[in-house]
Amino acid sequence: MAILSIPDSNIQINNVAEIKQFLNDRGVFFDQWTCDVVFENTATQEEILAAYSKDLDPFMKNGGYLTADVISINSLTENYDAIRAKFLAEHTHSEDEIRFFVDGQGIFWFHLENGEIFNLLCEKGDLISVPQGTKHWFDAGETNPFVKAIRIFIDTTGWIPEYTSSKIEERYFDFKVTK
Ligand code: LAC
Ligand code: NI
Repeated sequence: MAILSIPDSNIQINNVAEIKQFLNDRGVFFDQWTCDVVFENTATQEEILAAYSKDLDPFMKNGGYLTADVISINSLTENYDAIRAKFLAEHTHSEDEIRFFVDGQGIFWFHLENGEIFNLLCEKGDLISVPQGTKHWFDAGETNPFVKAIRIFIDTTGWIPEYTSSKIEERYFDFKVTK
């Protein structure tokens, strides 16, 4: 279940309808999808995509998205520190960045043009779309990362990060979500 935090004002929103409203008011799409399949560790990308096809297929069709894949990051992932560093620096993309969390968790940080900074803890069942050109960064944690997520694209080249070099993320390195 998602949790939205605005650290500078000490605000936390746990209610899904309120989270959706907050994000939609700012042009960010958020949804939750359910599925009854319990995946083994060995589940393939195809099995995961098929299990979510009920929601995934119409979503892709309506949005004009053409490809989807599954990324998996866990404590066995090699070079995790380098992968983490790549996501942790503020950046933008030339297309929407859409992630559906099949399992695990991570925090998406948003930095809007009006200066607002907030983050969304995404967990199993959460779908987030970071609009193209929106400054953001992502953290799956310093240790014991676990993310299994469907990525949805129009064109995978649209995902290449353009870094802002603002280093604004460093202000929030100590942030922890209190559950
Ligand atoms: C990305 C993230 C995680 O660009 O922001 O893949
Ligand atoms: Ni990104």
